[in-house]
Amino acid sequence: MTAEIIDGKAFAAEVRGKVAEQVAGLKAAHGVTPGLAVVLVGEDPASQVYVRSKGKMTVEVGMASFEHRLDADTSEADLLALIARLNADPEVHGILVQLPLPGHLNEDLVINAIDPAKDVDGFHISNVGLLGTGQKSMVPCTPLGCLMMLRAHHGSLSGLDAVVIGRSNIVGKPMAQLLLGDSCTVTIAHSRTKDLPEVVRRADIVVAAVGRPEMVPGDWIKPGATVIDVGINRIPAPEKGAGKTRLVGDVAFDSAAAVAGAITPVPGGVGPMTIACLLANTLTACCRANGWPEPEGLTA
Ligand code: GUN
Repeated sequence: MTAEIIDGKAFAAEVRGKVAEQVAGLKAAHGVTPGLAVVLVGEDPASQVYVRSKGKMTVEVGMASFEHRLDADTSEADLLALIARLNADPEVHGILVQLPLPGHLNEDLVINAIDPAKDVDGFHISNVGLLGTGQKSMVPCTPLGCLMMLRAHHGSLSGLDAVVIGRSNIVGKPMAQLLLGDSCTVTIAHSRTKDLPEVVRRADIVVAAVGRPEMVPGDWIKPGATVIDVGINRIPAPEKGAGKTRLVGDVAFDSAAAVAGAITPVPGGVGPMTIACLLANTLTACCRANGWPEPEGLTA
C-alpha cells in the first residue's frame, strides 16, 4: 500500500480562504474587522520567524494585526499591564503571547491573565477545563488543525481507535480530548508507555507529537491507518552539503507511507494548519464576542 498524502499546505490555504471570505462578510455586514494581537518578549529567532509569519497571514485574510515586541528584560508587571490593556481593547478579539517566555516570567500566570474569550491559543486554564468537559471553548490551534484534517479524510471518526503519542498541554492532551469528543477510543502514550510499538499497532489513527526525529517506524503502523505527524525536527543533512540541515517529523515518513492509508508530510502537513487555525480561532472569538453565529467548519 502507498499512503494518500494529506496535503496540509493546500488544506491550510483552503481554511485561510474560508476565513478571508467570512472576514469580508463581517466587514460588509457590520463594519467590524477581527483583530489579533501577538505579544513577543525577547529575541528568540524561531519565535521571531513565527510572529512575522502570523502577522503577514493575519493581514492577508483581511484581519487587523497588532504586534507588541517587548525587551527580553520586560518585567512581569509590565507584561501583565499590556495584557490588561489588550483584554479591554474592543478592536482586539484574539491575544497570543508567544512562548517560550524568558525565564524570569511565569508562563502560567501570564497565560491565565488573558481574557479566556480572547485566548486564541486555548491555553487558559478555563479553556482547558471547558474542552475537558466537552463545553464550548477556544481550542489549541495545532490539535484543531489535526482534527480538521482527520475529519476531512474520514468523515466520521466515531468508534475508531486513536493513539496520541505525547502528553504535552499544547498538543497531546487537547488532541486526546478532541478525539474523545468525536467518539474515538483514545490512548495517550508517552515515554513510559509499556510496549509502545504494540500500542501504536492497534491504532486506526496515530498522532505523533513527541519531538523526537523519526521515532515511529513504519512497522509500528497498522496497514491502512491514518498518521498525523506533528513533529518538526531539524536534523543534520550531510548529503546536502557540510553544515546543512533538513526538517523531519516524529514519524519515519518513507517506511510509514508504505503501510499507512494516509499520512501528513513534514514539512507541509500539520505545520501550515496551525497558523490557519489561529486565524480561524480569531474569527470565532470575534463572532462570539458580538453574539453572531459561529463560522461554519472552522471550530471543533
Ligand atoms: N510557540 C510555539 N508554538 C506556539 C503556539 O502555538 N502558541 C504560542 N503562544 N507560542 C508558541
